[in-house]
Amino acid sequence: MVALASDHGGFELKNEIARYLAELNLPFKDFGTATNARAEYPKYGYLAAKAVSSGECDRGIIICGTGVGMSLAANKVKGIRCVNCTDCYTAMLSRQHNNTNMLALGGRVLGPDLAKLIVKIWLETEFERGGRHEQRVDMVMKIEAGNIDFL
Ligand code: RB5
Repeated sequence: MVALASDHGGFELKNEIARYLAELNLPFKDFGTATNARAEYPKYGYLAAKAVSSGECDRGIIICGTGVGMSLAANKVKGIRCVNCTDCYTAMLSRQHNNTNMLALGGRVLGPDLAKLIVKIWLETEFERGGRHEQRVDMVMKIEAGNIDFL
């Protein structure tokens, strides 16, 4: 299950991505916003991030004007590794090396076709487990836990 959310700046792109996920037969849950009226990105970013953090959803895609505000809000939630992404290479590597579980997009930055390609690559790419990348992600999660034993 993919958690989906946007503010007003990402509302149109969120609708495009929702249609795309439906085309791919991928289940998603829309955490709002529900119209293009002005909305606060921390609220919607938090709702989607909380769903991923709790295990209700496996991954999350969150969209504001630039992707910045949404990624900042999501990355404050325990267990979240959110990438603000504008290119396919970063989409792939953020999965392979960083095991990102949320993807932030900019509705005012990306055209719909590039955004959909980024989403497809990000959803299909697996994390490279069992090596240096997993060790590094574990170190990042230790920072979150306040357990800095790797210095
Ligand atoms: C809203 O104007 C805009 O600030 C928001 O969508 C987002 O881009 C923030 O990072």
